[in-house]
Amino acid sequence: MKYYDKLIFELSREGRCGFSLPQNRYPAAPELPAAVKRSSALNLPEVSEPDVVRHYTNLSQMNFGVDTGFYPLGSCTMKYNPKINEEISSLPGFASQHPLVEDALVPGVRKVYEKMNEALGAITGMHAFTFAPCAGAHGELTGLMIMRQYHMSRGDMARTKVIVPDSAHGTNPASAAVCGLQVVQVKSLENGRIDVEALKPLLGPDIAGIMMTNPNTLGLFETQIKEIASLVHGAGGLLYYDGANMNPLMGVVRPGDMGFDIMHLNLHKTFSTPHGGGGPGSGPVGVAKHLEGCLKQLRVSGFHGNFGVILKAYAYILSLGKDHLKKVGQYSVLGANYIKECLKDVYKLPIEGVCKHEFVFDGLINDGAREGVPGATTLDVAKRLLDYGFHAPTIYFPLLFHQALMIEPTETESKDTLDAFIEVMRKIAAEAAEDPNILHEAPHNTPISRPDETAAARNPILKFQDTL
Ligand SMILES: Cc1ncc(COP(=O)(O)O)c(C=O)c1O
Repeated sequence: MKYYDKLIFELSREGRCGFSLPQNRYPAAPELPAAVKRSSALNLPEVSEPDVVRHYTNLSQMNFGVDTGFYPLGSCTMKYNPKINEEISSLPGFASQHPLVEDALVPGVRKVYEKMNEALGAITGMHAFTFAPCAGAHGELTGLMIMRQYHMSRGDMARTKVIVPDSAHGTNPASAAVCGLQVVQVKSLENGRIDVEALKPLLGPDIAGIMMTNPNTLGLFETQIKEIASLVHGAGGLLYYDGANMNPLMGVVRPGDMGFDIMHLNLHKTFSTPHGGGGPGSGPVGVAKHLEGCLKQLRVSGFHGNFGVILKAYAYILSLGKDHLKKVGQYSVLGANYIKECLKDVYKLPIEGVCKHEFVFDGLINDGAREGVPGATTLDVAKRLLDYGFHAPTIYFPLLFHQALMIEPTETESKDTLDAFIEVMRKIAAEAAEDPNILHEAPHNTPISRPDETAAARNPILKFQDTL
């Protein structure tokens, strides 16, 4: 343990002090009533200024962040978040607006919403957006409410089911259930795409619509999307597009042109703003022209969503412009395919072929299992990566594979970074084959190694006394 890994209370020495105040030139203040006074002294650590600075600096470095290293987290993308966007979103003219200020007094803010509506419309092919939803899942719920509203407004009350592929992101069936819709699962083919033949018999007068992610959570483009759209529409249903993963398609294909009627985007993912840690997020929902009426009737949050995130997205779109937005997708696809091809001789690739911005391995080809020694798992690989200074990919999702390892490099990582990651992944595969115990005990170089993750999430220890 390094000296400064100690708790700040352990660094405390009586009388040590990190500040100096000018001598008090004023008469003493009147005594406070006993009822509002502390009964004992406040237990603050007594440390010098450098100790305080080192304490917080060290704490900040005990965590892994996208600003400290490569973060290939599939599906949840810790992507490029240009610092200029942070600056723009904190400009006082924007940041200091109160949500109850009258519209007429904030024309600049209104303009951002109008411009974003236009920009997202151009990118997605949707007619109109609401910016009220504050996360992707919130957008899904909003979109499904629009779907229900549409059917009900036509007096069609029987459409209470929504079709969700077995590869779907977990929030899709959850949002459908929260919306009061029954989930009907459609299975995928060996090639990871929706089984259109299995879809056909599911389409009946009780189907409100289908929810799809394209590319799906395996990073694969649903090549039969046109046929799927015409089948669902033909049966009276609507198509919902989970656009959380829009980055590989921007400027190339538009959900509106694929036949989708409703969609959401994760601005905190595809359009700058770090994703994860619970927010802040923005999941605007767009609809085709015939659903605009239903969109306007909904109110899903107090005001107009997380304006700061929307503003960052606007800055991102403007700074890239049309041509470079397209490159986001092209580079993310190139990076993902490069890693996949360089590692598929040591990690199991369940579905061959070109992927979009992410792909899934199903664990190691040689996990090193032998008499009395269990093989290295995906969790072990993920933990070992920390020893080498890389964040783990998403693991054990999607659920279609037992040892899923879902890698998404994002578009801004250099070939040098990708090569360094590939080298480490190969090294880990070699270690597993030779002695999987190295991996079972990883990480070896982090402040803590293998906490009980369920217990840590359910009963987090947030006070130093609880550690004693
Ligand atoms: C495909 C997909 N759908 C939905 C979501 C949910 O988004 P959020 O976490 O903002 O609710 C995610 C998360 O990134 C996702 O990857």
